[in-house]
Amino acid sequence: MNALSTRDLHVTLAGSHVLQGVTLDVPSGGVTALLGRNGVGKTTTLRALLGLVPHEGSVTILDHDVERWATHRIVQLGVGYVPEDRDVFAGLSVAENLRLAEQRPDPDYETAFGLFPELRDRRRQRAGTLSGGQQQMLSIARVLLNRWPLLLVDEPSKGLAPRIVGELADALERVATRSTILLVEQNLAVVRRLAQRVVVLDHGVVVHAGPASDLADPDLTRQLLGVAGAR
Ligand SMILES: Nc1ncnc2c1ncn2[C@@H]1O[C@H](COP(=O)(O)OP(=O)(O)O)[C@@H](O)[C@H]1O
Ligand SMILES: [Mg+2]
Repeated sequence: MNALSTRDLHVTLAGSHVLQGVTLDVPSGGVTALLGRNGVGKTTTLRALLGLVPHEGSVTILDHDVERWATHRIVQLGVGYVPEDRDVFAGLSVAENLRLAEQRPDPDYETAFGLFPELRDRRRQRAGTLSGGQQQMLSIARVLLNRWPLLLVDEPSKGLAPRIVGELADALERVATRSTILLVEQNLAVVRRLAQRVVVLDHGVVVHAGPASDLADPDLTRQLLGVAGAR
């Protein structure tokens, strides 16, 4: 069964045909990585799935045809989103930021704090006084706090120190035991560790879909992603 599928998804932004017929399936459970060079349409795909940009084509999420659904209805189905731009409420404490983010029953503070233990130590600190990396952790924790059946995560490791990237991967691995995750991620080490399947976009279409073990082929990886596969 699929948690998510699209058929022939098209998006035009400011006169530019950004998604040109994206067809993809995300099986229930585990992590599917959505890969591709910069500017190929990964973020736009996630935004279209959430009904944040006008699109054509069919989208099925958690067994519902969600074409033309408002974003809040799609979210209510159980779809969490870690966007590329990660903001927190600067004037509120860490604990208040987390409390305001509770959107599902039975919030999982163990994962949110276990993910980034320093957030627990700083729970009374104003979020605006955290470092940039800590604010980014907090904004990710705000999403992972909820038990989402389906999570769309856009480049979570971007800008984080290597030590934190390891903690983040631990947390996503843990969340993936109970949620389906569609993960946009440039860090191939993280992708290899977490993903069971990969879907590669290029110029607004899917150019490859298969098991994550396909990334073991350096030539294929270089051809699809423009990076050396052996990293
Ligand atoms: N709001 C927008 N208006 C016009 N063009 C956009 C907009 N958002 C993204 N684009 C363009 O769409 C293409 C795909 O962008 P994006 O989905 O952000 O790519 P990726 O996430 O794969 O790097 C890029 O060429 C980008 O410049
Ligand atoms: Mg992007």
